[in-house]
Amino acid sequence: MEKEGLIMNRKIEQMIQLVHSVRPLIMDECMSHDITVKGQADFVTKVDTAVQRFLQKELYKLYPDVQFMGEEDHMQNVDFSKPVWILDPVDGTTNLIYGYGHSAVSLGYYEEGHISGAVIYNPFTEETFYAVRGQGAFFNNRPVRVTGNKALKDSLIAIGTSPYNKEMAPANFKSFQRIFEQSLDIRRSGSAALDLAYVACGRLDGYFERNLKPWDFAAGSLILEEAGGRVTDFQLGPVDVSSNQDIIATNGWIHEELQSLLPGLTSEDCARQRHQR
Ligand code: IPD
Ligand code: CA
Ligand code: CA
Repeated sequence: MEKEGLIMNRKIEQMIQLVHSVRPLIMDECMSHDITVKGQADFVTKVDTAVQRFLQKELYKLYPDVQFMGEEDHMQNVDFSKPVWILDPVDGTTNLIYGYGHSAVSLGYYEEGHISGAVIYNPFTEETFYAVRGQGAFFNNRPVRVTGNKALKDSLIAIGTSPYNKEMAPANFKSFQRIFEQSLDIRRSGSAALDLAYVACGRLDGYFERNLKPWDFAAGSLILEEAGGRVTDFQLGPVDVSSNQDIIATNGWIHEELQSLLPGLTSEDCARQRHQR
């Protein structure tokens, strides 16, 4: 067991070093203004592809047997009975394009049914969040814990707008109004990975968003759980990193209160999510 822990610690050090090394690529304004449209409100810049290409190559050099799943990759045929890297090269691409300074590299290591190592790095603030399963969560090398707020009325909640699914807007915005009325206030950051990391380190009490992709939440869900928080789908079930998910992420205390204010899935939603897998 201890040996496994040591191996994972080496891996997390390598993961942290690698994500730090892409900072110059993300800071390259020429590349972040070189934009291709992927879909409605959905863009990819040269930064996204350069970061992914670089990290995929370096991870392969270190661990040739570990599979790779990244957002900017059209071959997503991954066998989840074996280890997988799950990468979002830039989470918060719209923020990057606008010079908003709130984007992150998110890298998770999946093995044996769960994420066992995770790093989220914001190169603009040079903030690094990481976790190893069973060993706690860290923010710039200091251990972190979630907040202790026990009621929604005292809680700061990040909403996610599912920007690439505008058809969900009527249902989403009804939930946002309900949560806004019953919480302290709401926030919308534009980076799901950082929203999860912020709940982990106590900058938020909770966050929710529908139809996130595995690379949006894989790393953040481990970091939050290791910080004492809770991550589930909208039915309070466990999250599955092999498919799109509706995510509720909180300090644990307010989880069920928040969930009770969110709508269940319609049959059309279920069909859509099956289709998108
Ligand atoms: C998006 C961001 C955004 C969230 C979207 C994600 P991307 O990721 O995390 O905050 O609302 O659901 O897809 O496209 O910037 O990597
Ligand atoms: Ca993303
Ligand atoms: Ca992305």
